[in-house]
Amino acid sequence: MPVVARLEEVQNLGKKLVTVGDQDILLINMKGVIYAVEGECPHQGAPLSGAVLKDTYLACPRHGYRFELKDGSCKEHPEFDLKTWPVRVENDEIIVDLG
Ligand code: FES
Repeated sequence: MPVVARLEEVQNLGKKLVTVGDQDILLINMKGVIYAVEGECPHQGAPLSGAVLKDTYLACPRHGYRFELKDGSCKEHPEFDLKTWPVRVENDEIIVDLG
């Protein structure tokens, strides 16, 4: 499983876009918990680095679809699922399980 960033590179309530192979992964630090989600919105491909973070979800900057951080689900539009990956932090390094 690849180390994709160091913990200090993703500030609290911040995001960082990394690329592993040909996959863009958006890392999110929600109050100390790190999440890894795909970098583009599954609706029409807007870059999610500009998404708004709130409580348990992020909101796409283009049409406002809200995706849960924990599983990428979208309550209002369940046909659109944001891809997510399990994350582990070890020795201040962020490791993403790409499966
Ligand atoms: S492109 Fe993200 S909600 Fe439409």
